Amino acid sequence: MTTRRRLLAGGAVAGAGAVAAAVVAGGPDRAVPAAATPPDDTGTATVPFHGPRQSGITDEPPAHAAFVAFTLAAGTDRRALGRMLRLLSDDAARLTRGVPALGDTDATLAVLPARLTVTFGFGPGLYTSAGLPAPVADLPRFAIDRLERRWSGGDLLLQICADDPLTVAHTQRMLIKDARPFAAVRWVQQGFRRSPGVQAPGHTQRNVLGQLDGTANPRGAELEGAVWNADGSSTLVVRRIRAEIEKWDLLAVADKESATGRRLATGAPLSGQDEHDEPDFAALDPSGLPAMPDFSHVTRAHVTDPALKILRRPYNYDGVPDAGGRPDAGLIFAAYQRDLVRQFLPIQRRLAEKDLLNEWITPIGSAVFAVPPGCAEGGWIGEQVLA
Ligand code: HEM
Repeated sequence: MTTRRRLLAGGAVAGAGAVAAAVVAGGPDRAVPAAATPPDDTGTATVPFHGPRQSGITDEPPAHAAFVAFTLAAGTDRRALGRMLRLLSDDAARLTRGVPALGDTDATLAVLPARLTVTFGFGPGLYTSAGLPAPVADLPRFAIDRLERRWSGGDLLLQICADDPLTVAHTQRMLIKDARPFAAVRWVQQGFRRSPGVQAPGHTQRNVLGQLDGTANPRGAELEGAVWNADGSSTLVVRRIRAEIEKWDLLAVADKESATGRRLATGAPLSGQDEHDEPDFAALDPSGLPAMPDFSHVTRAHVTDPALKILRRPYNYDGVPDAGGRPDAGLIFAAYQRDLVRQFLPIQRRLAEKDLLNEWITPIGSAVFAVPPGCAEGGWIGEQVLA
């Protein structure tokens, strides 16, 4: 007798079988990455907080992030900033080791750091408060921008990342308490990537639009020239970019691929076969047109000089849908680069001027931060700038 229950169970088994076959055989489009065995130290793994460069930048992005921006209270001068940053650095160092913050009200939540990192960024206003010249300035306005104040600006940023959302939440709460006498919370943006163990290491993650995102990032030795100044400093741009997903849903796969310049299933450039093939902008398709469309996102964003590349470290966001079920999703686009004006700005200008993807993405928040060097044990983030 065929019951509804048996039918459903049968369907589920058949579905699982299909997925397993794709994994084993690589599948016709290799869209299903090999699953990884979750490591058993996910909770206890740590990333060192101390060092000449801050963590949370070139290390593998953990699964969860909170970007917390603050507005300094009136009168938070250079000395007060030093007091605040000593407190924040000390607690960030403790929590990243799995040690409770000073006066931690939930010490039990501190013991599983799950690769916790806390990265500090200084907005232009922090330098003004300290009576110092600012090394970064807000981005110019771009025609594509629909910026909202509630996602823009900030004098201080804490980028908190970990492989567990409870660790991120606890760290966020402890550090906001430290900052409270000196600064008000301006905005918080929470985001996620794939969880540890979901796919084998080395696979590029997919974003909420279903694209492989991160393929052309600088790697290995390239990171030195692209991200780090000699003193260990860097810069960070955080843009909240809404994805018009239901409009995107209406596109055929081929149109999504033309907008991006890469294949959805494999991430290969439209001029090549494999994800890491270099895009060939001179290649023609069988009908004699450029294989990489002139205005695809990759064509417009592409940079050949490794020193001019930017390190994209985006997180997805997925908020509460509206009453009609329309999603509130997109990217918290975070990019690190040595020099914002030489590296980030020309790329953003080209994309703002012409990028097919602009039809399906809208920048709704924007903030820039100088990223000070790291500090040694006993030191504090910002000491090179403010001490
Ligand atoms: C929601 C917004 C965005 C989405 C969905 C998106 C998506 C993508 C995808 C799918 C790729 C190809 C794979 C890869 O190399 O990662 C890519 C590449 C790239 N994107 Fe974006 N992107 C967005 C915003 C931006 C912004 C704001 C910038 C910089 C201003 C940017 C700069 C780049 C660069 C430099 C590349 C590499 C190009 C190359 O050399 O091949 N993207 N992006």
